[in-house]
Amino acid sequence: MTGAARMEAKVPASDLDFWSDEVIADPYPHYRTLRDIGPVVWLSRYDSWAIVHHKPARDALLNAEVFTSTAGIAMNAEANRNSEGVMIFSDDPDHQRLRRVFNRPLLPGALARLKDRLSALAEARVGELIEQGEFDAVTQLAHYLPLTVVTELLGLTEQGKRNMLGWAAGLFDALGPAGNARTDSGIAIAVEAFTYLHGLKREELDPDGWAAGLFRAADAGEISQDEARTMLMDYTGPALDTTINGLSSALWLFANHPDQWDLLREKPELANRAIDEALRIESPIRAFARLLTRDHEMGGVTLRKGDRALIVYASANRDERRYPEPDRFDITRDARDHVAFGYGMHLCAGMHLAKLEIATVLNILVRRVARFHLVEARRELHNTLRGLSKLVLKVDVV
Ligand code: HEM
Repeated sequence: MTGAARMEAKVPASDLDFWSDEVIADPYPHYRTLRDIGPVVWLSRYDSWAIVHHKPARDALLNAEVFTSTAGIAMNAEANRNSEGVMIFSDDPDHQRLRRVFNRPLLPGALARLKDRLSALAEARVGELIEQGEFDAVTQLAHYLPLTVVTELLGLTEQGKRNMLGWAAGLFDALGPAGNARTDSGIAIAVEAFTYLHGLKREELDPDGWAAGLFRAADAGEISQDEARTMLMDYTGPALDTTINGLSSALWLFANHPDQWDLLREKPELANRAIDEALRIESPIRAFARLLTRDHEMGGVTLRKGDRALIVYASANRDERRYPEPDRFDITRDARDHVAFGYGMHLCAGMHLAKLEIATVLNILVRRVARFHLVEARRELHNTLRGLSKLVLKVDVV
């Protein structure tokens, strides 16, 4: 059915320009309008469904047989074609086999060994910044652990380490719709990243790193050599910006809500809840797409085989049907069922690492900072990621 035919069929629809600068800069009122239209809304400009309520978003994420990732999670054909074979663009049973290998260095046991090192590094960095009194919490703090520790753990070459952050931003922009300037520049950057990864020589990798681990699993016959190479992208793309945005958005929230910072200082045991709440309300990834493998009823409408459906994590996480007063930042809220990390078989493979990095920094700040004062915040306009490019904070020291 064409877009016009859908409109005639009177499906819940919106002509919202989901990827415009205006919507990206301040998306939440627009997500609310979509949620008021219905759980599943036809985006007429993009010939795609948007799943915007919490329950149907989780149902879709659990139902990979109907909502496939193999046809791509991007909104354009070129990025989907270029990413064939990448784990996040695959379904079970292949996905499960790849994921078993991929997960190894990211399981809680493996991460426990990292804990002390992360704490020592973060303690020193926070100490220096506090001494300065004023600092950019994005480039000087949130970048720090991902760019020092995670890039090293992955074990790419110097060129890879240096470019990872820029590539990641491009890879996420590339997921937008065709004909969008950010999508086009993202695809060009993504091609650069794929070219680097395809040309990498195995002997150039750190033998103890995650990347080399993929090739060892291939030697052991768990995955193929080609799969090992393609999966390098699953480590390279999502490991940095997501966590950087998660931490800097949390600090931005605390700077704007000093009562919640006071509460966390009084009850540091709320740190895990606070992290989930910050990820719920400022979800670092706004949406990924799926393709329908057959006709499917959802939220009172019939999605057709071959339709694209955008799962809007950032809207589901503010669904008033699930979270009362969803726009209120409340660190006592139990938001563990948010979908900022997705849900189901593609649930974020780096979730424990991301939470560990964010908790490490937050736990130190809780001991050392009495109050954050917001000096300047600059939002990054991005097709898929939500975050700040600058967050200057002044701190009152304990
Ligand atoms: C706060 C930080 C993070 C957020 C908010 C986040 C968010 C997400 C989301 C929403 C998904 C679901 C994808 C889907 O449904 O198709 C996902 C999957 C994934 N994430 Fe993360 N992520 C974060 C950190 C990380 C880190 C640090 C890594 C790597 C070390 C990582 C690696 C992955 C991978 C490989 C997948 C695909 C898993 C699969 O296909 O089975 N993420 N993430």
